[in-house]
Amino acid sequence: MTIRLGVLISGSGTNLQAIIDAIESGDLNAEVSVVISNHDSAGGLKRAGRHGIDGVYIDRGNFESAHKYNIEIRDILRRYDVDWVVMAGYMRLLGREVLDFYRNRVLNIHPALLPSFAGASGIHDAWDYGVKVTGVTVHFASEDFDEGPIIAQQAVTIAEDDTIESLEAKIHAIEHQLYPKVLMLIADGRLEIVGRKVMIAPDA
Ligand code: GRF
Repeated sequence: MTIRLGVLISGSGTNLQAIIDAIESGDLNAEVSVVISNHDSAGGLKRAGRHGIDGVYIDRGNFESAHKYNIEIRDILRRYDVDWVVMAGYMRLLGREVLDFYRNRVLNIHPALLPSFAGASGIHDAWDYGVKVTGVTVHFASEDFDEGPIIAQQAVTIAEDDTIESLEAKIHAIEHQLYPKVLMLIADGRLEIVGRKVMIAPDA
């Protein structure tokens, strides 16, 4: 079954690009139905356009409340018949209006090994703390930032000669592999949430 994705972004959209590439190469049985951004200058909107995908900019400033803003997001996702919501560098808290409608069908990617270094600057925070290992987490989204059940994690070792720039490059390279891999598991119907744990069924 081809799953229909709605991707929420705020920025450059390199994770969106990795998902599009996995679809176009035939590795991921999915379709990006719509890309929604809260910034009109987001590079991810241009990437969507280059691949013939509808991109929608929603300005939070045009809505009198977060509630109405999130209703608009939910309605656009529904209009595009989206099955799964993929947050890929979407830098706002997603409202209950979306999370309740898409219960257990909203994903997020975080550039650190949660629950360590949650928040908007996971790579820098891990670097500043001086950890020797950090990584990438893909998880189900919940009402709180970076909090829902964890689907997949991959560690990244910080080498003696790493710089913050080289660490960022390593983390992003892992992200671009891990997010499509998780979406492949979803397209194959292999994930099950059991309490806080996400069980992955063996490959048939
Ligand atoms: C990624 O590092 C992601 O983990 C974080 O925001 C960044 C988005 O990058 N949540 P991009 O827009 O996909 O290039």
